[in-house]
Amino acid sequence: MDSYKLVMKGDRALSGETYVSGGKNTSLAVIPATLLCSDVCIIDNLPDIEDVRVLHRILNKLGAKVEFDTKANRMIIDPRSVNSSLVPFAFSQQMRASYYLMGALLGRFGEAEVGYPGGCDIGSRPIDQHIKGFEALGADITEFGGMMALKGELKGSIINFDMVTVGATINVMLAAVRAKGNTILMNAAREPHVVDLANFLNSMGANIKGAGTDSIRIRGVEKLHGGSYTVIPDQIETGTLMIAVAATRGDVAIRGTIPTHMEALTAKLLEMGVSVSSIDDVIWVRVKRGHRAIRLSTQEYPGFPTDLQQPMSALLTRASGRSEVVENIFDNRFKHLDEMRRMGAKVNISGKTAYIEGVPQLRGAPVTATDLRGGAALVIAGLMAEGITEIYNPGFIARGYENLEAKLNALGGDIHRETAD
Ligand code: EPZ
Repeated sequence: MDSYKLVMKGDRALSGETYVSGGKNTSLAVIPATLLCSDVCIIDNLPDIEDVRVLHRILNKLGAKVEFDTKANRMIIDPRSVNSSLVPFAFSQQMRASYYLMGALLGRFGEAEVGYPGGCDIGSRPIDQHIKGFEALGADITEFGGMMALKGELKGSIINFDMVTVGATINVMLAAVRAKGNTILMNAAREPHVVDLANFLNSMGANIKGAGTDSIRIRGVEKLHGGSYTVIPDQIETGTLMIAVAATRGDVAIRGTIPTHMEALTAKLLEMGVSVSSIDDVIWVRVKRGHRAIRLSTQEYPGFPTDLQQPMSALLTRASGRSEVVENIFDNRFKHLDEMRRMGAKVNISGKTAYIEGVPQLRGAPVTATDLRGGAALVIAGLMAEGITEIYNPGFIARGYENLEAKLNALGGDIHRETAD
């Protein structure tokens, strides 16, 4: 249990203007990718969140020189002093995406030893597709005592993933960029952060084509140089803020976004009767009246993102009618709904579908966050609810959102921290 809790006074419409920070999931791929470079990399727009700080510590542990100016959101990484390909279990356990160090270290040294990944409990999260890709490139892999050891002279190959997986697409891309010969990733993930990683690697001298489609072609190169790069804004933070505005029947302009990344969510909000418009990098969300129930089914990008399923379910607790939420990507991503029931939500779960009956109002209550996006959903429910909501274990939220409390308070929210009883 975290030492602090969030205390929220709800039932206040958010209004005004806010901004989105740099992308968590793109940062967690680009930072390890700098290990493949032969010179200093300057990465801008990096969010100051716990997961990025964990990666900072891991790169230091490997011997890289790293400066993170959290005010400027700028990280300067000198990978030339990296002198180890071992990521101790205690480090890799802190964050699931630490497994990207497997692809990066294998790509750089031809060997890696990384603790089995930890991370949010949203269902079984195997890495068989990552292993399939690394073995196809010629790596031998052994597991012992919670560690994975990978070793091999990597040669290009054709890899056809058995399912669309963001993690395996990114991890195998990291290993393949400096492999001898050509690699083709088929049935590849198309998420914006996959494209951002390919853009970063290409700007450092890699030769990757087709990122953003389901077939990515990688010509191995000898070396990657250093340079500067700015990561894209966070697609899921953008969506979380859009949903929070709709849930409080507010009126907010969100700056620094990429509206085309948000099309699946925007379509659903419009279907509910929420007004969403965008000009350049600004998305404007307004609610003039109540909103309608919908059917939602999570898919790989460009479909409706699983990471916004939980925040969206908070909004749906007050939509008029019965909504259906189908979670197709993970097998245990409804735990937050038990907590929302304590606030008066009417929810039934059957298999991978949650049925949410709209109610006129939620009531504040003490609730516990169980994972990152489930925690964000509870914050949204707390913003909507009458009375006081206390959120225990809010540390999950700090892993993926930069200054979320400050951003929401600046829009009229009332959230502060207190010592957890
Ligand atoms: C990434 O997780 C994100 N994490 C997740 O965001 C996101 O929910 C997910 O992609 C889907 O978009 C990061 O980018 C750090 P997957 P990842 O590999 O890579 C199965 C957040 O809140 N699978 O696309 O783990 C897997 O079990 C986090 O920011 C295999 O079976 O997702 C899942 O059911 C939560 N074998 C499905 O594929 C494998 O080898 C999708 O997983 C790999 C995956």
